[in-house]
Amino acid sequence: MKKIAVFTSGGDSPGMNACVRAVVRSAIFNGLEIYGIRRGYNGMIKGDIFKMESSTVSNIIQRGGTILKSARSKDFVTKEGRQQAYNQLKEHGIEGLVAIGGDGTFTGANLFYEEFGIPTIGAPGTIDNDLYGTDFTIGYDTAVNTAIYAIDKIRDTADSHERVFFVEVMGRDSGYIAIPCAVGGGAEIVMIPETKTTIEKVVDALKTGWSRSKTSFIVIVAEGDEEGSAVEIAAKVQKEIPQMDARVTILGHVQRGGAPTAADRMLASQLGIACVEGLLAGRACEMAGIVNSELVYTPFIETITKVKALNPNYGRMIDILSV
Ligand code: F6P
Repeated sequence: MKKIAVFTSGGDSPGMNACVRAVVRSAIFNGLEIYGIRRGYNGMIKGDIFKMESSTVSNIIQRGGTILKSARSKDFVTKEGRQQAYNQLKEHGIEGLVAIGGDGTFTGANLFYEEFGIPTIGAPGTIDNDLYGTDFTIGYDTAVNTAIYAIDKIRDTADSHERVFFVEVMGRDSGYIAIPCAVGGGAEIVMIPETKTTIEKVVDALKTGWSRSKTSFIVIVAEGDEEGSAVEIAAKVQKEIPQMDARVTILGHVQRGGAPTAADRMLASQLGIACVEGLLAGRACEMAGIVNSELVYTPFIETITKVKALNPNYGRMIDILSV
């Protein structure tokens, strides 16, 4: 293998740039030519491919977002799209790929390998931390810290006005972001897709809190909770407690940006190197991850289909801490 390419795909996450840097530098260290593909699979289809040098990735380790841009490609889902992508890679002489992204990215890479035999090794780049095969994904630590920084500010105003704040954090399918936000942000209640928390339970918790002279509350809602969005949940609770003074804050894409934390830079650098070394060792269709402090490669199919279960004790922890 002489020429490889790197791309970022799906929702961006802080630390993607640090990972791109590690891929580029370790490719050069190993005597490979390294190319960047802009805008994920869309750029692969269009041939938006350029040669990268060590200097191309200077001064990016601390930057959020991704210098390669990112996209969720509809065209790559089609056979014609993947054929065009293959033609472009062939034309550029690219023999291996490093994909930095989440489950959608790895689903595409798996199919692409089955059809065209181009090996891909993945690095888990998503704030959601919901990928099987790694304890932490690149960007998760930063996203949680960004959210907690915001929640601390919300607590101040909640306390001054004696209000109930419903704070929505990201995580369509998982409570991985919500749980540390609730623990670290001192929330009274957390609502996540993995466990059912009824409106009745929220109402009871608020009433119990008031009876114990609490005057302000934080309810953390993961965007994928089965009771709905934070706006919908606040409205349902308001119906049961008309005198409640409630506000809703949706943290949204604020969680996706910003300078990566030291932990994310470290993880991104380790995994970027592991991706290149994995390709050189003849691996394909696997994600590099860290499990119990050890580097592991997990087949894409497992990262996509297996569920990384959330520790069930976390809910109990929040109940204890909010007494
Ligand atoms: O997968 C990362 C993520 O930020 C999710 O937490 C969120 O549900 C989704 O992406 C939002 O996607 P988009 O930026 O395309 O609206």
